[in-house]
Amino acid sequence: MGFDLDVVVVGGCGHVGLPLALAFAERGLQVGVYDLDPVAVDKVSNGRMPFEEPGAPELLGRVLGSGHLRATADPAIVARAEHIVVVVGTPVDEHLNPDPHVVPAAVGALADHLRPGQLLVLRSTVYPGVTALVEHLVEGLGTQVEVAFCPERIAEGKALHELYELPQIVSARQQSALMRARKLFETLTSETVEMLPEEAELAKLFTNTYRYLKFALANQLYMMANDYGLDYERIRRGLTHNYPRAADLPAAGFAAGPCLLKDTMQLAAFNNNNFVLGHAAMMVNEGLPLYVVDRLARRYELGGMTVGILGMAFKGESDDIRSSLAYKLKRILRFKAGAVLCADPHVSTDHNLVSEEELLERSDLVVIGAPHRRYATLEISQPVVDIWGVRGEGVRV
Ligand SMILES: NC(=O)c1ccc[n+]([C@@H]2O[C@H](COP(=O)([O-])OP(=O)(O)OC[C@H]3O[C@@H](n4cnc5c(N)ncnc54)[C@H](O)[C@@H]3O)[C@@H](O)[C@H]2O)c1
Repeated sequence: MGFDLDVVVVGGCGHVGLPLALAFAERGLQVGVYDLDPVAVDKVSNGRMPFEEPGAPELLGRVLGSGHLRATADPAIVARAEHIVVVVGTPVDEHLNPDPHVVPAAVGALADHLRPGQLLVLRSTVYPGVTALVEHLVEGLGTQVEVAFCPERIAEGKALHELYELPQIVSARQQSALMRARKLFETLTSETVEMLPEEAELAKLFTNTYRYLKFALANQLYMMANDYGLDYERIRRGLTHNYPRAADLPAAGFAAGPCLLKDTMQLAAFNNNNFVLGHAAMMVNEGLPLYVVDRLARRYELGGMTVGILGMAFKGESDDIRSSLAYKLKRILRFKAGAVLCADPHVSTDHNLVSEEELLERSDLVVIGAPHRRYATLEISQPVVDIWGVRGEGVRV
């Protein structure tokens, strides 16, 4: 059967799905975007990004204009594409339990639109064993659809470079599916790495866990130095200078966002909750806002003060507030301080934010919640708490 689209991206209006769809379209493929969220679909169809991603607004305009990309909330588009790439979100619940059925359920919902000869590529970060579950599911449907698992490894904000630069992990049980997945991703990047599906599932979880643990180590060392009255950033700069073995020691900061903690906890659950380092990293990273407020409470009469948090996104130059620890900081400060004001020029989805000017006018003390570049040179007359070191004026609290 012939297909008039090369790829349809399911979850294609999301932070991973949309940059991927844009990149495929830029490389000349005919791309469909399918997403459950009609508001996001409407935005994309009208050339507006649902979130910030450098380079994406221009590219979206170009590929809509050239007719290489179309977005819809109608799943029927899935039947038109030779490759179906599934990038739906994969949450853990409030008790940090992963739900291995989210991706199979999303695939199951597409059953009526699967056609013989299609390749189904899973790209969400999944609980180990989910690819096998989907293979089973698809086989049971009798649709002659092949399955591959090719995890996404980009970081938000760098998507439109990294999609072309990072080696692409491809995995599939069948050799033909593996070859087809490799060919698809070779339209983006010259280097692919082949694995078994179970290896690739763990490779993705190991990648995010490694990063989360590195941040936790930095944060624990930060607290150690701080408790000793020393500036972690001065120590870090000194020890990493021309010393390659420690060059990747991170600065301190609120290590958060939609992936790192979630995926570390998926790995812990996979290992029967036996992951001492992963759980320790969670205690350190999630405990950092509490530590900061505790230190502030020793120096200031917080109860009579207005504290301003500058930057609410989970990381610098981002508008993504998912799982941002700046919000945890806000919750703790609302309990301890007289008042809390929050501002973030990137974030438009939180209507409780005030403007930067108002925050700087009314606050007695300012905490940098996200390391947006503009804060490096922003004039601030109040005392500033900057654990990230964006201002270069010291990180002690
Ligand atoms: N955000 C990142 O930096 C990043 C990086 C690498 C991998 N990942 C992984 O990629 C996956 C997606 O993450 P994200 O940040 O893009 O999430 P997201 O919430 O930004 O995007 C998911 C999209 O899928 C849509 N969706 C959900 N269920 C659907 C369904 N059944 N059918 C069609 N559309 C559906 C949502 O409306 C949303 O637009 C997750 O598994 C995540 O762990 C994320």
